[in-house]
Amino acid sequence: MKKIGFVAIMTLVALAILATRFDMVDLPVWHFFGGGTGLDPASLHLRGEFVESNLGAAEGPGRAVTVRMIAQQFVFVPQCIVVPAGVPITFRITSADVVHTLSFLGTDYGLKAVPGAVTEATFTFDKAGEFKIPCHEFCGAGHYAMRGRLDVVPREQFASLLPGERRTCEQR
Ligand code: CUA
Repeated sequence: MKKIGFVAIMTLVALAILATRFDMVDLPVWHFFGGGTGLDPASLHLRGEFVESNLGAAEGPGRAVTVRMIAQQFVFVPQCIVVPAGVPITFRITSADVVHTLSFLGTDYGLKAVPGAVTEATFTFDKAGEFKIPCHEFCGAGHYAMRGRLDVVPREQFASLLPGERRTCEQR
């Protein structure tokens, strides 16, 4: 009888941990059990929306800007992105392995990158400037060195950049 009591208590403790840490396990567990979009973290770089040539900032119809980015242990791909100031930027991000969180230093903006799903959010950066993007979710041994960069440039300067130059902060 004592054993059953012990098991019951351990089960309650486990449930309590799960309940309070729910936000840390919810999405990956949900995808594991068949939820989500079917995006395969292992083949992200090979096919679909997140192939190399489609990453970075892209201008769509009506000058809407979309940024696509992959977070993985322990880098962001691309490592640096260029976007125009004063324009709503739609970020679409995913993870190739575990959960990462992008935070744009100096702003309230943040985004969670989850394997198997695309997180989308739209932010506007009013002024030109440079924003560091440290990872804010403990994701392994290299977590503290995981940081990307966002360069916000004046609108006219962005318009003059070639598509390849919007994926990198070099060559300017
Ligand atoms: Cu990625 Cu911490």
